[in-house]
Amino acid sequence: MNNVILIGFMGSGKTCVGRRLSYRLQRTMIDTDKQIEKQQGKTITEIFEEQGEPAFRDMETACLQEILETCHNQVISSGGGLPLREKNRELLGKIGCVVYLRVTADTVYQRLKDDTTRPLLQGPNPQEKIAALLSERVEIYQAAADVIVDVDEKNCVEITDEIEEAIKHYETISH
Ligand code: S3P
Repeated sequence: MNNVILIGFMGSGKTCVGRRLSYRLQRTMIDTDKQIEKQQGKTITEIFEEQGEPAFRDMETACLQEILETCHNQVISSGGGLPLREKNRELLGKIGCVVYLRVTADTVYQRLKDDTTRPLLQGPNPQEKIAALLSERVEIYQAAADVIVDVDEKNCVEITDEIEEAIKHYETISH
């Protein structure tokens, strides 16, 4: 095992932190969104448009199942909605140490207000969408997490340092 899985809302920095953490821990990194795009030969936006969100959620579950069966000593960056399904939370717990990058709605809005790659945030009033989705999800993320790191106003290096420290502690107490 010894995998580290990053969860958190869109724009919380999972990809950036995941890359840096994998470099620091000398572990390879997997990104569930990228993995799904590669397997499907489509972007996330195309998958949402052509097959809908429930089909995408099924793909996330299949992706996690594969990670559970094949991954050891890796850093996994997950899509922001992946922990919503109970089955996925169960799989996350089996895969490794779950680190929640906790971010506020304001920071997400500042980071993603011009983004066009997140289907759930397109259309009018992204600020309201972010606030509504985040408030629905906060408790789910918290319940799924072994470690919580607040990320507002911290850079990628600071966040990675904090995670490294927290993981050492987690690995000591969980073995
Ligand atoms: C989603 C988050 C996205 C991507 C998809 C749905 C969500 O990933 O999986 O657009 O439901 O929060 P990121 O968190 O990497 O943006």
